[in-house]
Amino acid sequence: MGSLFAESRCRIYSILQKNRLGYACRNVGKLRFPVNISSQRHNTNTSTANEEEIKQFSDIASKWWQWNNKNMPLHALNMVRVPLIRDALLGDEKSHKIDQPRPLSGYKILDVGCGGGILCEPLARLGAQVTGIDASSEIINVAKAHASKCDRVAANVSYQCTTIEQLTTTENAQSFDAVIASEVIEHVDNVDLFVSSCCQLIKPGGKHIVTTINRTPLSYAVMIIGGEYISRIIPAGSHDWKKFITPKELTKKLEEGGLNVDFIGGIFYNPLTNNAGWLDNTKVNYAIVAHKPSENYEKSNA
Ligand SMILES: C[S@@+](CC[C@H](N)C(=O)[O-])C[C@H]1O[C@@H](n2cnc3c(N)ncnc32)[C@H](O)[C@@H]1O
Repeated sequence: MGSLFAESRCRIYSILQKNRLGYACRNVGKLRFPVNISSQRHNTNTSTANEEEIKQFSDIASKWWQWNNKNMPLHALNMVRVPLIRDALLGDEKSHKIDQPRPLSGYKILDVGCGGGILCEPLARLGAQVTGIDASSEIINVAKAHASKCDRVAANVSYQCTTIEQLTTTENAQSFDAVIASEVIEHVDNVDLFVSSCCQLIKPGGKHIVTTINRTPLSYAVMIIGGEYISRIIPAGSHDWKKFITPKELTKKLEEGGLNVDFIGGIFYNPLTNNAGWLDNTKVNYAIVAHKPSENYEKSNA
């Protein structure tokens, strides 16, 4: 029993080391726990794409749409994020549009860090005109190939291999009804540039929907130790705990980008049932909905 305990303590310690948390740990007895550091990594370069991160995603590109592979949590997350995005866009129109076959017709959505299109496709099926961008060309090719299998999706979605900051140089500012950044901000460099570029491309009155992971000891235990090293439903090394962002830090960045935050909600994912849903707790996964103020928007929501 003693040696089993020593072995698991060793394993946890090696995971902490592997995730470069050594200097951010607090000693409690003989165990070391991550402390809540506020330093997001500051990057002086002007790209949001981190080569190592992009390579890791590119390496699993061919498996993106295999239901039984490690992207299962992303598929399950659609149970929460598709209705969230639909309702944020429809607002008061929800009651009379919800039963229409394409309630998001006429809305332009940008999905930043879209991966293979797991979120773009259902939004395109709901009628939105979706642009998906990702820094990995391998993944964009997978997204294009998958979209081409369904005419209804292919007609409404377009993909580009680029970053958000590059897109701001080619796309008109304020051109999207919604900009989505789902499960991506924790993988980017230069978070300030990432957030400000996303904010720039939102129309006045438009929405920004972000889903991501909080930086708490619980998120370290659940996402990294539990998800990557015990259950292995997430590829090991996918996450760097230091890059997780708290709702407070994200709210501040969104406000600096000229947005007002309307909603912050916790999300759970149950790997046993492969279900996701809302939770009254934002300590691990959470979503934020914000809007860009406009005269009309403020009047109609007064
Ligand atoms: C965890 S996946 C999420 C995919 C998708 N948003 C979803 O939820 O189904 C993160 C994606 O972000 C992309 N990515 C990471 N950093 C990026 C950046 N700076 N610009 C664009 N895409 C990026 C990766 O290549 C990867 O496909």
